[in-house]
Amino acid sequence: MNKTVFSLLGCFIFFCGAYFSEAQTREVITLKNQWKFNKGQHPEASKIEFDDSNWQNVTVPHDWAIYGPFDKEVDKQTVAITQNGETTATEKTGRTGALPYIGEGWYRTAFSLTNFDDNKKVLLLFEGAMAEPEVFLNSKKVGEWKYGYSYFYFDVTPYINGKDQNTLAVKLTNIGKSSRWYPGAGLYRNVRVIVKDKVSFEQWSTFITTPSISIDEAKVNIKTKAFGTDLKLVTEIYDKDGHKINAKETETIINNEFEQNLKINQPQLWSPETPYLYTAVLKLFKGNVLKDEITQRFGIRTIDYSPETGFSLNGKTRKFKGVCLHHDLGPIGTAVNKSALRRQLSILKDMGCDAIRSAHNMPSLEQLELCDEMGFMFLAESFDEWKKPKVENGYNRFFDAYAEKDVVNLVRATRNHPSIIMWSSGNEVPDQWGSEGVKRAKWLQDIFHREDPTRPVTVGMDQVKAVMASGFGAIMDVPGLNYRVHLYEEAYERFPQGFLLGSETASTVSSRGIYKFPVEIASMKTYPDLQSSSYDLEYCSWSNLPDDDFELQDDKPWVIGEFVWTGFDYLGEPTPYDDAWPSRSSYFGINDLAGLPKDRFYLYRSRWNTEEETLHILPHWNWEGREGEVTPVFVYTNYNSAELFLNGKSLGVQTKNFKTNQNRYRLMWMDVKYGPGTLKVVALDDDGNPAAEKEIKTSGKPNKLVLDSNVKRLKANGEDLAFITVSAVDKNGIPCPTATNQLNFEVSGNGRFRAACNGDPTSLQPFHLPTMKLFSGKLVVLVQSTENVGNITLTVTGKHLEKGQLTINSEKQNP
Ligand code: GAL
Repeated sequence: MNKTVFSLLGCFIFFCGAYFSEAQTREVITLKNQWKFNKGQHPEASKIEFDDSNWQNVTVPHDWAIYGPFDKEVDKQTVAITQNGETTATEKTGRTGALPYIGEGWYRTAFSLTNFDDNKKVLLLFEGAMAEPEVFLNSKKVGEWKYGYSYFYFDVTPYINGKDQNTLAVKLTNIGKSSRWYPGAGLYRNVRVIVKDKVSFEQWSTFITTPSISIDEAKVNIKTKAFGTDLKLVTEIYDKDGHKINAKETETIINNEFEQNLKINQPQLWSPETPYLYTAVLKLFKGNVLKDEITQRFGIRTIDYSPETGFSLNGKTRKFKGVCLHHDLGPIGTAVNKSALRRQLSILKDMGCDAIRSAHNMPSLEQLELCDEMGFMFLAESFDEWKKPKVENGYNRFFDAYAEKDVVNLVRATRNHPSIIMWSSGNEVPDQWGSEGVKRAKWLQDIFHREDPTRPVTVGMDQVKAVMASGFGAIMDVPGLNYRVHLYEEAYERFPQGFLLGSETASTVSSRGIYKFPVEIASMKTYPDLQSSSYDLEYCSWSNLPDDDFELQDDKPWVIGEFVWTGFDYLGEPTPYDDAWPSRSSYFGINDLAGLPKDRFYLYRSRWNTEEETLHILPHWNWEGREGEVTPVFVYTNYNSAELFLNGKSLGVQTKNFKTNQNRYRLMWMDVKYGPGTLKVVALDDDGNPAAEKEIKTSGKPNKLVLDSNVKRLKANGEDLAFITVSAVDKNGIPCPTATNQLNFEVSGNGRFRAACNGDPTSLQPFHLPTMKLFSGKLVVLVQSTENVGNITLTVTGKHLEKGQLTINSEKQNP
């Protein structure tokens, strides 16, 4: 059958164990399999009779452009990026990733609703469709949307073919110069059919808030809208173990809206450290007949922003240790995948990160669910452009007609996620200039407030002087500054709010495992190999180094946190190589495009992860040809001082000090002369005693391949992914940090090869072919489960290398 049915009954058993309902009042069908896809113009493709037998079989979520090939000509933009301070136009090649996202694409599928009758209402829900989707059901157009990042739905009841097969066709159109990064293309998020009774809850109308919270009790306020007459709402609240802790019946409905208040005794508060979730089950009765039922998870927590205490969660001041993330998932592109998102968040958790900003658009619902569960605060953003263009064919084309609808859908679809602690109505919008922009900022902020009075709104502002002068910055709930560390003090003085957020910080650039000499701080530095140095001292003309933000975070109580640009590299925007082919992905990431940590990961970890030790040495120690030359050594650690040894000889003790921002946050031995061997760092505690040590060694030639998976087991659901890191090591098992061997991958058993990525921003090797070169000695292979349980084996081979092999087990979904 062409669908995955996620029934409410199944949901109860899976999540809550102890309770479930006998009734199955609504059916949510996720249209995943048996889609047909074709790129190109197909004027007849909306018709039932259309012959799509030659089209490609795909599963949705699907990104049609990620399979490449990379091509310099795709979306070549000859522009001056004014927001980067450029005044003359140059040819930008990899700006949107050089992947073939432009053009029309069609998707077709069919589904039958065996339970359909005249009492049913059917919604067709898209959680994102890139871009300008036009939706046809049984040859008729049911509606369209514009913004590729929006969630939207249509009531398609009048178009349904009774119990017979329904033909769904979706046309998507992407035009050039419509983005500043790789947007992806196609049905990249889930498409769902919701079949329910006509007497039912209105989609996204449920809003659960917790207006008063004390140690002893919390008030849970539930508002929801329903269609029908003589209705009764019964709400049950369950704790995380599935025990019912309260219930309430209400028959009063005013203007189609129910409102209830329920008490929870001794509430467990949600926080990144304790992501406790409750579940509300809302049952809609007409007379005594159950007509509809929805489950809604929620959390209990307070948020507060004030000049006295900055940002506080549950009454405790804290600063956001956040990162900005683009929506692409590297080698699988924008096709949403929960296990890929979970892996990203696990890596960030280990770094001590506690907050995410969805730059610069609506997050996937899967990412929000994971942030609720794993404990991340979320800054949910909506737009990169308002009415004034940044790119010729950007959102400016839709702003007037769609901005309100897009914000409404964002807020209504996501406002019950406890992880969301702030909205953002825009990023560096050119409307920061001029009085019209101030009005737009206010208009948008008011829409957010109307839809959700519980959370503040920010804008990532880069035109700081302009927004100080115009009043734009003064009206924001939370003034967010992108970079401009030298203006923080002035903005704090001039703005009335009494605090500032680093809505975007750092934009430091580096390539994993690549180091450049001499080691020096530099802006927009470029090299012939189109890489950036991992000494983490290179940044952009508008940005700064991590240490400059750390200083503000540490010294200014009124700075409420930062969101670093970016947690992971992303496709497109290859600054400082915007006009240098073949650069096609970013250098900003703390982790590379494959999700492998760059050195900067440990710099942030040494500050943010306060539970675990960080002791990291850079660079690698394979510098044949640099013998006797100055090769500085940095150590990122949460210890205050350390002693460095090269082949047993002390190179002295370094202690963090206030000479420069770098000296304050990094231990640096600037005069080390390279010689092969062992570099050892011994961290010292506050009394000067050895507390921990770490060493790295010069390796010999690559001899064999070593595999390491991020998970031990996969779910046999056809979607789950294992990320297997492949490293070349020498005959003694020492990692070879400069290896670039071409490797081949083979997957056998109940899984399949999905993609590979080495994190090299200049690589033009396609992600989906089972062969790729190592970059700085490593790459990552993605292995996907099938729906069959059993073993999956990945074998990796390369010329003159002992092969690497790893087996993981794929198990039933709910063992
Ligand atoms: C910011 C912008 C981001 C990204 C970044 C690169 O100005 O908001 O989207 O372009 O610069 O440094």
